[in-house]
Amino acid sequence: MEETVPAVALRESEELHRIILLSMSDAVFITDDEGVFTFICPNADVIFGYAYDEIRAFNRISRLLGRDLIEPGQLKQGAEIRNIEHEIETKNGTRRNLLVHVKPVAIKGGTILYVCRDITDRKQAEEALRRNEERLTLALGAAAAGTWDWHVPTGEMTWSPETHRMFGDASRSQPPTFDAFLDRVHQLDRERVARAMTEAMDAGGSYETEFRVLGYDTIERWIMGRGKALRNGKPLRMLGVFVDLTDRHHMDQELRDLGGKLINAHEGERIRLSHELHDDVGQRVSLLGAELGILRHRLADAAPDVQRQIATLSEQAETIGSELSRLSHELHPVRLTHIGLEESIRRYCRDVAEARHIAIDAEVIEVSAKLGSDEALCLYRITQEAVHNVVKHSSATRATVTLAGAAGKVLLSIVDNGVGFDTQAVRKKDTLGLVSMRERVRLVRGTLMLTSKPGGGTRIDVSVPTIES
Ligand SMILES: Nc1ncnc2c1ncn2[C@@H]1O[C@H](COP(=O)(O)OP(=O)(O)OP(=O)(O)O)[C@@H](O)[C@H]1O
Ligand SMILES: [Mg+2]
Repeated sequence: MEETVPAVALRESEELHRIILLSMSDAVFITDDEGVFTFICPNADVIFGYAYDEIRAFNRISRLLGRDLIEPGQLKQGAEIRNIEHEIETKNGTRRNLLVHVKPVAIKGGTILYVCRDITDRKQAEEALRRNEERLTLALGAAAAGTWDWHVPTGEMTWSPETHRMFGDASRSQPPTFDAFLDRVHQLDRERVARAMTEAMDAGGSYETEFRVLGYDTIERWIMGRGKALRNGKPLRMLGVFVDLTDRHHMDQELRDLGGKLINAHEGERIRLSHELHDDVGQRVSLLGAELGILRHRLADAAPDVQRQIATLSEQAETIGSELSRLSHELHPVRLTHIGLEESIRRYCRDVAEARHIAIDAEVIEVSAKLGSDEALCLYRITQEAVHNVVKHSSATRATVTLAGAAGKVLLSIVDNGVGFDTQAVRKKDTLGLVSMRERVRLVRGTLMLTSKPGGGTRIDVSVPTIES
């Protein structure tokens, strides 16, 4: 018998619904008012592990989903209940998270429709994400770090509570935007920070820079900013962290101040010792020499061995006198003010070369007119210490000291052809020479570069700013 047109349409519609149900990962059930199954979708086993016939044998949906899914009477008003999160146990005993919709219907002899979706994987991913976020928050908190997120097209930013605090806005009342952020950056750092961020944004790369911010609470803080740009053909977002370095900067500043004070105290002590040697001990030794001279005169008729003894004594007094004078000059280079840095370096190199039998070339041009007295003293002290190190440690046969001028700076280098050393390893040594060289250079805002390796000689390059720079 041929099917009628409505019958064909109905069959096709049922077929279509069956296909849709089978291709969905959701499981669908219909029950009567008592919870007895009137429909079980064929793919329910995917979620529950039970085959169609096993579920049918349960008879009631409460045996599959448990009794506590919905309160009896909840469906009385005829409205559907959506998004019930519900945990079940599958046939093999594993637990799964379901999202269940329950809806009153009148279909296939039943009155209640259940649609169950397996959200176990999503729940686990959410849980993992939450744990990661907790760890990240902990780590950021421990590092005194705040986060930020800049949406470039709108200029809007999101600041974490710690970022608000760093900007002196603990109450989080200020709306965070990129312009508000740049406004807070210290004006001397602003252009540099904006450039670093826009360059990273243009290249789709990352940036890292330190800067000061003047907080809404008028407190100045040091911040290290790090960010990574995201583009989708054009600038889109930048995400990053701010780390509060203020305490560390204060400590560094205190240490630097202390280093500067120690160097100054050291210089003061050298001046005192130098005066003592020169004016007191030195004077007495020259007096002794003069008196020995007079004595030799008065004993012109004495026996030759007495005369020789007096002559030896007065020679010794003279040697002690000139040694004292050399020492006093080394302690306090009065020469520097009298004969200038260039001549002081030449003479120092010549004296050491003669005394220690090592070739020291001094290639020195006139630069001191452009130098302040602190810078000149710094360069002289470094020459002394570096040449002293050459003599003491390098076994070099030749060393070269060069003093030269460049735009806005004066350059000093001390190079030797000696044994060289491991620059990392000596950092652990409890010595003062290299440390105080660096400290002196830092105090006059110069730079020092030390290059050395075992067997490869040693080179020290110093640059200090001139007066007009
Ligand atoms: N020109 C050099 N050639 C070879 N080794 C060197 C040279 N200059 C420094 N060193 C090495 O570096 C170390 C540190 O030098 P530094 O001047 O700080 O200390 P020091 O000379 O040993 O002691 P001091 O505190 O009296 O200066 C030296 O002990 C030496 O091993
Ligand atoms: Mg030394």
